[in-house]
Amino acid sequence: MNILILGSGGREHTLAWKIAQSNKLTKLFVAPGNAGTNEIAENVAIGVNDFEAIKKLVLKENIDLVLVGPEDPLVNGIHDFFLNDTQLKEVAVIGPEKLAATLEGSKEFAKEFMMRHNIPTAAYQSFTSKNLEEGYSFLESLKPPYVLKADGLAAGKGVLILNDITEAKNELKSMLLDAKFGNASATVVIEEFLDGIELSCFVLTDGENYKVLPMAKDYKRIGEGDTGLNTGGMGAISPVPFADEAFFQKIEERIVKPTVEGLKKDKYPYKGFIFIGLIKVGNDPKVIEYNVRMGDPETEVVIPRVKNDFVEVLEAVANQGLDSIDLEIDERTAVTVMTVSGGYPEAYEKGKEIRGLDKQNESIVFHAGTKIFENEVHTNGGRVLAVTSYGENHQEALKTSYKTLKDIGFDGMYYRKDIGFDL
Ligand code: AMP
Ligand code: GLY
Repeated sequence: MNILILGSGGREHTLAWKIAQSNKLTKLFVAPGNAGTNEIAENVAIGVNDFEAIKKLVLKENIDLVLVGPEDPLVNGIHDFFLNDTQLKEVAVIGPEKLAATLEGSKEFAKEFMMRHNIPTAAYQSFTSKNLEEGYSFLESLKPPYVLKADGLAAGKGVLILNDITEAKNELKSMLLDAKFGNASATVVIEEFLDGIELSCFVLTDGENYKVLPMAKDYKRIGEGDTGLNTGGMGAISPVPFADEAFFQKIEERIVKPTVEGLKKDKYPYKGFIFIGLIKVGNDPKVIEYNVRMGDPETEVVIPRVKNDFVEVLEAVANQGLDSIDLEIDERTAVTVMTVSGGYPEAYEKGKEIRGLDKQNESIVFHAGTKIFENEVHTNGGRVLAVTSYGENHQEALKTSYKTLKDIGFDGMYYRKDIGFDL
């Protein structure tokens, strides 16, 4: 099979690394890819939202399957674009159709879905500029902290958690009246605050059957002790020590099954990954959000624990045959530590040479924001490398990643030294 992966992050390098190990693979392409995918696949300089250029590539290279990494092209309808094109409609696309991708594209849509299917989540109401005053009253009826969410995609920045009622009202006004997050905040969801520890559940569905992939926990804040600004993710661990069998059963019965059944009942066509952001409140799981893709950096710990031939798994998703797949999961713990450019998630520099990538180590170094410049690997983004290691437990695995990181460097490199501190 010829396969195309869309995206350029650590998630896509990990998926490429896994797919490259399959006997079923003929040729692998990544668009646009990074310096890491360049070593195991052919990078093609096409943006993930340039559907016409993707079409040309798919036809020219006889691509059989397209695996969509990020949410953007899914929310923009790439799967529908393939289905509606006579030349492309036989090509398998892994990722939901546009309607189902709205689960990530609109928080209000996701909330309504959860209400309809009795999926546990925070109580909420949504508001637009037309009922701002009602928004103020709703805020007054809640206890702090106040959770305000821009309805649409806001590059991970659209959620505000505020302690002060006056500040919450001002922010609500600025989201609704001054387009603080552009069109994304034309509608705002205000939620009950949930107090607990977060974890992520990944489900692969073919629209009929599903498989639950290993659970993971990511570390979103830039600073140690979970302080400072939110980032795309500074590290991850799988499995999650506090998600024992009894807790997992609750997740599967109360959340995974009703989600997959709900997609069927509502006729939301879905062949792809569902990333369910969860919070453990007391002993009960509640949904914080749905994403319609794999997480990054969770992919860097989840996929290395899957032992199956991944092309077989993806084919089963495409052919609605997931029921015939038995997932085999590595018992070991996998961890990843993300190295980032100084200044990230605010302003940072790119184009720094990365040293030490050729040194032997016991980790798997996945590339995120990297590119080849004059035959050297240079930084090309905020998140740069995800250093994944296995171990008997997360402490052992982390030792290996931190050891590997002693040999790797670039100007301004930063990483958290406390991944897993709260477990
Ligand atoms: P989201 O984009 O919906 O995942 O929200 C971003 C982050 O905000 C989550 O990862 C949580 O840490 C936090 N968050 C979102 N909703 C809530 C809530 N209802 N209660 C507490 N924290 C929340
Ligand atoms: N690590 C969180 C995300 O991928 O959205």
